[in-house]
Amino acid sequence: MLKGLIFDLDGVLTNSARFHLTAWNNLAKELGINLTSEQLDSLRGISRMDSLNLILKYGGQENKYSEKEKEQFAAEKNKKFLEQVETMTPKDILPGISELLADAKKQNLKMDIASASKNAPRILKKLGIMDEFDGIVDPNTLHHGKPDPEIYEKAQELLGFKTDEVISFEDAAAGVQSIKAAGQFAVGIGDKNVLKGADYVVPTTADLKLSKIEQVFNQK
Ligand code: G6P
Ligand code: MG
Repeated sequence: MLKGLIFDLDGVLTNSARFHLTAWNNLAKELGINLTSEQLDSLRGISRMDSLNLILKYGGQENKYSEKEKEQFAAEKNKKFLEQVETMTPKDILPGISELLADAKKQNLKMDIASASKNAPRILKKLGIMDEFDGIVDPNTLHHGKPDPEIYEKAQELLGFKTDEVISFEDAAAGVQSIKAAGQFAVGIGDKNVLKGADYVVPTTADLKLSKIEQVFNQK
């Protein structure tokens, strides 16, 4: 029986994913690296340092900088990202999400957040939906980023439910892999070719309907 919902944040509840990608793309350009759109897309859901390392790898610069320099680059990117976060308001909640959260509340489902972002609490506050959730996994406690299952396992543990009692939502390929590795039901939001491991895929958040998702979940 369904008891809980687990949400990724960037690209699922709000479109802050685009702020991450723009900030990374700008930093990459400064480093003389031109990322293809596929390379940029592959950064979705990936932790801050893993994203930077991947960019440097794409540019053939994986051994060029010291850890200290890399921390500076990551801090620079985060500063730019946070400038964008400050402009966010409840209007930045993606279409269909408020309805989905309200439907879940009506059914007394518990909900939490499985985002790799250390800025998740700040973003949820700006969106005005912090109190909707029963918890947020602290990414500082994680040993492995997505696609490792750790973050979704922790989110499930935080809710106190079994694997087959939760549904998890993701916009990133690495995130869907993480959910499936944790053994949970995955809802993918985006391109079904990219999110092919998910149990159910919708093109946009506006297409998320809890009753429909539950129907597919109950058939599994
Ligand atoms: C999310 C985003 C990623 C981002 C990661 C770390 O998973 O999808 O693009 O790199 O969080 O975010 P942070 O805010 O801690 O840099
Ligand atoms: Mg995401």
